[in-house]
Amino acid sequence: MNDRNDRNDRFLRACRREPVDATPVWFMRQAGRYMPEYRKLREKHSLIDLCKNPELALEVTLQPLALGVDAAILFADILLPLDPMGASFEFAKGEGPVIHEPIASRAQIDRLRVIDPDESLGYVMAAIRLLKKELKVPLIGFAGGPFTLASYLVEGGKSPNFAKTKKLMFGAPSDWHALMEKLSEVVRLYLRAQVVAGADAVQLFDSWVGDLAPADYVEYVQPHARRILRDLEATGVPVIHFGTGTATMLGEMRDAGGTVLGVDWCTPLDWAWERVGYDRAVQGNMDPCALLATAGTAVKHAQRVLDAAAGRRGHIFNLGHGILPETPVDHVRAVVDHVHAATAR
Ligand code: CP3
Repeated sequence: MNDRNDRNDRFLRACRREPVDATPVWFMRQAGRYMPEYRKLREKHSLIDLCKNPELALEVTLQPLALGVDAAILFADILLPLDPMGASFEFAKGEGPVIHEPIASRAQIDRLRVIDPDESLGYVMAAIRLLKKELKVPLIGFAGGPFTLASYLVEGGKSPNFAKTKKLMFGAPSDWHALMEKLSEVVRLYLRAQVVAGADAVQLFDSWVGDLAPADYVEYVQPHARRILRDLEATGVPVIHFGTGTATMLGEMRDAGGTVLGVDWCTPLDWAWERVGYDRAVQGNMDPCALLATAGTAVKHAQRVLDAAAGRRGHIFNLGHGILPETPVDHVRAVVDHVHAATAR
C-alpha cells in the first residue's frame, strides 16, 4: 500500500471514492507497440520473453510512466496461466494468440491443472517485487476473466462470434461450468498471489463478456466472476471489473463484484454510472480511436468524458479499451496533461 508521502496515490484514492487533487489517468495497454522504446526491445525479444524475464518486464512496465500516468500496470498477458494449466500457446506473427490444442472435449477440461501461481508463474511475482522497489505510483496487477479465457481456450484464438464457445456453453452446460470452475480458481489464486507480491490493485479483464445476453451472463458467467471478485475484494485492494460491449449488463457485472466498474466508449459514462450506482467507482471511457487524429481531437474527447464524470468522486480516466499500436505518443501525453489540468482542485 502507499505508505510514503512522496508517492502519488490519486489512483487508489479515486478507486475508494475519496477526494483527489486531480482525476487519475492510466491507459489499458499503456505499455506496447505505440511506444518506440517498446518496439526497440521487441526487435530483440519476443512478447513471451518480455513477460517471463522480470528485469525486462520491469523495464517495459516503467516505459509509459514518462507520460505522467498515475498508475503502472504490470507487463504480462492474460493468457500466461494457460500454459502451465496444460494448454500451450504462442503469439503467431500478425495473427495474435494461437492455442495449440483448443478444448473440444470433457476429457481435455478434466486434464487442465489448477496451478500454484507462485510456482508456475513465479516470474510474474518476481516482476511485481522488483517493480514495488522502483515505483512511486500504484501498481495494478491483472488477470483475464473466465469467459474471455475460456473463449481463447475453446476457439483456439480470437473469434468473431464465439460460436464454439457458446456451443459448449449452451449445449453442454455441465462441461462449461467445469471449465469455468477451473479457470476461476486459477484466476482467483493468481490474483491473490499478485496482491501478496505487492500489487496495489487488480483488474479482471473479461474483455469479451459483452458478447453475451444479460440472462446468459447471469447463468453461465456471473457465479464464476463473483467467486473471483468477492475473494479479491476481501484482500482490501481495489478490484476493477472490466469488459467491453457491456452496456446492457453493467448491473449484472456490478452484482458479480468490483470496487470499480470499467466502462467501454459506446456507453455514455454518466448513463453507465447511474446504472452501476454511485457507491462504486467507474473507469473509462474514451474511444481509443479518438487518440489517432490530432492532439486537439483527443483532448476534446477527453473533455467529453470529464464532463460526463461531472467531478463526482470515484472517476478514473482511461480509454474504453486498450490503446492501439498506431497511437501517436504526443496525443497520449496531451490527454494526460489535459485531464490533470482540467480537473485540478
Ligand atoms: O496494459 C498493459 O500495458 C499491460 C500489458 C497487457 C498485455 N496484454 C500485453 C500484450 C495486458 C493488460 C494484456 C491483456 C490482454 N491480452 C487481453 C485483455 C485486454 C484487452 O485488450 O482486451 C487480451 C484479450 C489479451 C490477449 C492478447 N495478447 C491478444 C489478443 C494479443 C494479440 C493482439 C494484439 O494486440 O497484438 C496479445 C498480444 C499482446 N499482449 C501485446 C501486448 C503489448 C501485443 C504485443 C506485441 O506483439 O508486442
